[in-house]
Amino acid sequence: MEIIALPSPRTEGPLTLEETLRARRSVREFAPDPLTQDEIGQLLWAAQGITDPRGFRTAPSAGALFPLEVYAVTGDGVFHYLPAEHALRQVLAGDVRPQLQAAALGQESVGEAPLVLVIAAVPTRTQARYGEERGLRYVDMEVGHAAQNVLLQAVALGLGSVPIGAFSDARAAAVLGLAEGEIVRYMLPVGRPR
Ligand SMILES: Cc1cc2nc3c(=O)[nH]c(=O)nc-3n(C[C@H](O)[C@H](O)[C@H](O)COP(=O)(O)O)c2cc1C
Repeated sequence: MEIIALPSPRTEGPLTLEETLRARRSVREFAPDPLTQDEIGQLLWAAQGITDPRGFRTAPSAGALFPLEVYAVTGDGVFHYLPAEHALRQVLAGDVRPQLQAAALGQESVGEAPLVLVIAAVPTRTQARYGEERGLRYVDMEVGHAAQNVLLQAVALGLGSVPIGAFSDARAAAVLGLAEGEIVRYMLPVGRPR
């Protein structure tokens, strides 16, 4: 499907890192208005944006093997983040947030947020070098790095977010139409705090 270029990310903002850390709190109630492309692009860049000519990213990666895949779920569809292009590729049309909410045990924050960032992973990329168990451990550490980047970026944009770990892995993967071998690890609903 269609490739959508994202606006260049900003590398300066009004809050210091310390102010951002101090202000982060889980937010679960959001105004319904959509986020701008600037905001969506900035949040995706925080998750997995490329910040080095070698392809290294905002979040560290064990062995620079980059097992994470990030999806933006909005009222318009499901979009896969392409770090190399800083662009989105639409993978599904239509609003799947109700199904994603159902997969997340009915949590309203998932269905109400104008944007849900989903952090998925292809563990074999890392397991091929580090083994099954340690590879999966490294993948989960990376998921945490990327998620915290998003949570802090949300604060710095005046937005709110919450990390969602309680969901059915199988249902979440089915809603997003993920390929075999790709797993959902975190959902991050983001919006303007209500
Ligand atoms: C691994 C993990 C899983 C979580 N899963 C959920 C969740 O499914 N739903 C939810 O509302 N909050 C979830 N949270 C958010 C915690 O409830 C929240 O971080 C905690 O209450 C502390 O509040 P704070 O984030 O404002 O500091 C999760 C947090 C972590 C670290």
